Amino acid sequence: MKVLTIVGARPQFVKASVVARALAARGIEELLLHTGQHYDQGMSGRFFLELGIPEPWRNLGVGSGSHGIQTGRMLEGIERAILDARPDRVLVYGDTNSTLAGALAAVKLGVPVDHVEAGLRSYNRAMPEEINRIVTDAVSALLLCPTSAAIDALAREGRGVASGVRRVGDVMYDAVLAFGGRQAELASDLEAVVSRKFVLVTCHRAENTDDPVRLNGIFEGLRRVALELPVLLPVHPRTRGAIAAAGIDVPMGVHVTEPVSYLEMLALLGRASLVLTDSGGLQKEAFFAGVPCVTLRDETEWTELVDVGWNVLAGADAGRIAAAACHFLDGSQLPARPVNLYGDGHASDLIVDELIAAEAAR
Ligand code: UD1
Repeated sequence: MKVLTIVGARPQFVKASVVARALAARGIEELLLHTGQHYDQGMSGRFFLELGIPEPWRNLGVGSGSHGIQTGRMLEGIERAILDARPDRVLVYGDTNSTLAGALAAVKLGVPVDHVEAGLRSYNRAMPEEINRIVTDAVSALLLCPTSAAIDALAREGRGVASGVRRVGDVMYDAVLAFGGRQAELASDLEAVVSRKFVLVTCHRAENTDDPVRLNGIFEGLRRVALELPVLLPVHPRTRGAIAAAGIDVPMGVHVTEPVSYLEMLALLGRASLVLTDSGGLQKEAFFAGVPCVTLRDETEWTELVDVGWNVLAGADAGRIAAAACHFLDGSQLPARPVNLYGDGHASDLIVDELIAAEAAR
């Protein structure tokens, strides 16, 4: 079997790196296509080096642009790549424009496409990611789900085992187990902040960065949190631009740094008292590290973390952000941490099992 894997954005490099190992262990040929959605050294190059991912077979170098431009360029390039490589299956991850383009290009050429992280729903169609997920799931052969909430969401849409739904667990948990022992040494500017208790923050979602009212609300929330503990904010390039465009003064006690690598992020999580984020992946990575999380969104796809009390939704409202942070920082006992919410750390192996079974049944 020959698998063409499509990646393009930061979290996809992490997820694909652990599945690549599982594919290689079973002797399956994999070709890696990087759309070039993320292209900076800090957003892409460092991840490849750190995670030991070989040079992609093909890099489309699409770069940034409007959704239509970015996705259109990818579609064209991925179609050509599929025609050149003639893979048996195409593997896509998550909910980015690269995911959508990979899925559409493959299904239109009659190549089965399998979706890792299927079934996640925020039920907020204003998010580009929600549209990407819904469309990708609709055309995928295997819907490889990380959680029971994802299985339930697909069941409500009429999809079950007979239509390719499988629960395999979360490859990000596999990644933490694979790389957790290799946390990076931190640069001196980061070390200076994290040598004491601190709060780790990330914010990059378009719904927050592209809305000055929400971005101001979040920074007012951070100002209040920083009165309690120093705040470290590794900043996504989109957010850096948005802060400047909205004329926001970064509050005292909020330390803005360049984006960090995956191993640096694991090291920071290992030492943080609290995470505030609008990222999907970081909500879970905080949980894996035993750190509570306040989510800077009005809804989450990872509802199980809210249900068990490890995550509180605070939106972009300063008062709610500060109150949720206080709730976790006041020293009271954290809730018990359930095991197996995200599988047993062998999601990658189960994914490969499913690919082999689906190919044998074709
Ligand atoms: C994308 C995904 C988002 C995911 C995130 C992970 C979509 C619709 N969104 O968001 O779901 O959580 O990746 O990080 O696919 N930029 C750079 N250098 C880079 C990459 C981006 O400077 O290497 C800047 C550009 O100004 C660009 C902006 O960041 O316009 C946004 O990048 P883009 O890839 O469009 O979306 P993300 O916000 O990164």
